[in-house]
Amino acid sequence: MSPSLTVSRIAAQQGSVLRELRTASLREAPYAFGETLEDALLVDPSSFDDTASLHASSPRLATFLLYTEGHPCGLVHAYIEEAPNERAFVSALWVAPAVRHLRGGELLVNVASRWLAQQGVAEVHAWISEENRTAVRFYERLGFGPTGDRRAMPSHEQEAESLFVRHMHPEEDD
Ligand SMILES: CC(C)(COP(=O)(O)OP(=O)(O)OC[C@H]1O[C@@H](n2cnc3c(N)ncnc32)[C@H](O)[C@@H]1OP(=O)(O)O)[C@@H](O)C(=O)NCCC(=O)NCCS
Repeated sequence: MSPSLTVSRIAAQQGSVLRELRTASLREAPYAFGETLEDALLVDPSSFDDTASLHASSPRLATFLLYTEGHPCGLVHAYIEEAPNERAFVSALWVAPAVRHLRGGELLVNVASRWLAQQGVAEVHAWISEENRTAVRFYERLGFGPTGDRRAMPSHEQEAESLFVRHMHPEEDD
């Protein structure tokens, strides 16, 4: 039987859970992210407490955590850029290998996108490494399409990432 997967917004006191999930994701899928494991390990652990506290209640920044049977097993960040652009993004998406292909990634991105739409945005963006064909297929299946924008990956300058966008519909429920 498939484990049941749920998503909820991070709580202010979950800094250590955030640090665990983020370092696990950078260790397991270093090709996917603009930050390296070394970067994350150098950061003072208390800054994860600050991030959790901010992401638990800010109207512009949030983190959503995936749980299986009560255990944290994935995450995604959602944020809205400062003016003048004010574009909305999902980032840092990761699902633990043991629970992949069970729609946990889809649940995370949909909950984060819905939250962004509730903050008033009409489009949700994601930077995706061009090497990460799994993520490209995953996002395309959720209705994201390429904008044509590309840039070098912050942590691996020799690789490029592409900007994808999904248009949210006001009535969109998931
Ligand atoms: C991308 C990721 C979040 C998907 O998580 P998930 O919980 O497995 O996703 P879902 O079950 O909701 O959707 C899976 C769908 O994504 C695509 N997909 C996921 N893994 C895939 C793979 N190895 N090969 C091809 N397609 C894949 C398929 O469309 C798949 O549908 P299927 O399971 O019916 O075949 C997960 O693979 C992951 O954490 N990867 C490493 C980190 C990463 O790449 N993050 C994205 C950064 S932009």
